[in-house]
Amino acid sequence: MVQARIDFLGSGHFRPLADALSTAAAEFAVERPVVLDVGAGTGYYLAAVRERVNARAAVALDISKFALRRAARLLPDALCLVWDVWRPLPLGEASVDLALNVFAPRNAPEFARVCRDGATLLVVTPLPRHLQEIAEGARLLDIRPGKDNDVAASMADGFETIESRTVEFQMALSPADVGNVAAMGPAGHHSAPSEAGFSTPASSVTAAFTLQVFRRRIREVSKT
Ligand SMILES: C[S@@+](CC[C@H](N)C(=O)[O-])C[C@H]1O[C@@H](n2cnc3c(N)ncnc32)[C@H](O)[C@@H]1O
Repeated sequence: MVQARIDFLGSGHFRPLADALSTAAAEFAVERPVVLDVGAGTGYYLAAVRERVNARAAVALDISKFALRRAARLLPDALCLVWDVWRPLPLGEASVDLALNVFAPRNAPEFARVCRDGATLLVVTPLPRHLQEIAEGARLLDIRPGKDNDVAASMADGFETIESRTVEFQMALSPADVGNVAAMGPAGHHSAPSEAGFSTPASSVTAAFTLQVFRRRIREVSKT
């Protein structure tokens, strides 16, 4: 499924999302940040953000070695580590200025540990209407409403919510694009694209996401 992601992202259909993420990063992050992408996949979004903010260092974590091999090729100067997000992250406390999480699992306590006070965390989740025109034909899983609220609640101990933005655009997809986007998520899929029974191009398909901006709360100084 990594190839489907590479092919779909390579087609440029999600470029507006990479642009929105980069714009938010430039707006909220400190200058020359250390950037961490958890669940970085093939590194597509980290590459876009890193360039936009002129990052001092970039770290990509993902459990898939196949995806990360691709990320390492795209980001030769970045640290790309095969890592399970549910383990303690391989970074020091308060070492990250800007963290990204795009359609990937979130370990809130670990995000809070590695982010320095005031650091920016950008989280992207799909909205229920994401890919709605092809959801049935491509047998995509339903996207639960209120995902953004769940994310904010799960982050609340370590992060305050600064802003929530809707990123929405239309895409003209070929049958191959539909197969790739179905195979790669974030909506997920029940069957291989070739079994999903779509063969016609979808002229206008909705891409719809929530981009949440969080700020790491100031740590309390322990009085001992
Ligand atoms: C839908 S993909 C998104 C990838 C990338 N952020 C993007 O949008 O192109 C979800 C990613 O999370 C990764 N992932 C899933 N479970 C993980 C875990 N426990 N630890 C680290 N990465 C994980 C997958 O390997 C996959 O690359």
